[in-house]
Amino acid sequence: MSIVLIGGEKGGTGKTTLATNIAAMLALQGKDVLLLDTDRQGTSSFWATVREETEIEPRIACVQKFGKGLASQVRDLAERYDEIIIDAGGRDSIELRYSLGVCDRAYIPVQPFQFDIWTLRQMDDLVEMAQAFNENLQAFIVLNRVSTNPAVREDKETQDFFREEDFQHLSLAEAVLRDRIAFRKSARDGLSVVELKQDKKAVQEMNQLFEEVYGG
Ligand SMILES: Nc1ncnc2c1ncn2[C@@H]1O[C@H](COP(=O)(O)OP(=O)(O)OP(=O)(O)O)[C@@H](O)[C@H]1O
Ligand SMILES: [Mg+2]
Repeated sequence: MSIVLIGGEKGGTGKTTLATNIAAMLALQGKDVLLLDTDRQGTSSFWATVREETEIEPRIACVQKFGKGLASQVRDLAERYDEIIIDAGGRDSIELRYSLGVCDRAYIPVQPFQFDIWTLRQMDDLVEMAQAFNENLQAFIVLNRVSTNPAVREDKETQDFFREEDFQHLSLAEAVLRDRIAFRKSARDGLSVVELKQDKKAVQEMNQLFEEVYGG
């Protein structure tokens, strides 16, 4: 059993995209998964509702939780599910802080074109603070929406930049997700890219990330 947080302070980086895809992939493996939406925008919940209404199998349980009770609620929920995926909102919210306090691993999507050192420093500090209470917490940056144009070396440039900065509490995930329409298309239909089956590369990228998250 593990609690995985997909979070970060910035808006629109792909948190909900990663959270919903991972939840679906776990469910496809037969896991009893809970998608925990702590974002008041409710985008993950909306995705789960579309999925439910379209009667897509496997069904995925999704609940919304906000505020200070979050940490104890997550611990209670952890007793009832095989895996928990938390989608934590786009700013430095109470939900993000409490989620960092209870999760095993945190994945923070970042888009190369909005890669800014200030936000990452903030995240590094937040993770450090959470690790004071949650010793085993590991946090990773995931490059998302990287250009599919091979001439644009965004992934390489961002990786080099990340290494130079030498963050103490953040690592860089090896998997890189590129800007692919399949991610947007599947989201609209309450699906994962794996279920949409229209883009092999998107599936490959998600599989690689999934392996990193759960591969041990
Ligand atoms: N790899 C990708 N390729 C193409 N589109 C993507 C990709 N990742 C995310 N998107 C799209 O970018 C938009 C923002 O993604 P998403 O909603 O997952 O971000 P978020 O971090 O949850 O945003 P918010 O901060 O508003 O909660 C969505 O339209 C989503 O479909
Ligand atoms: Mg979101």
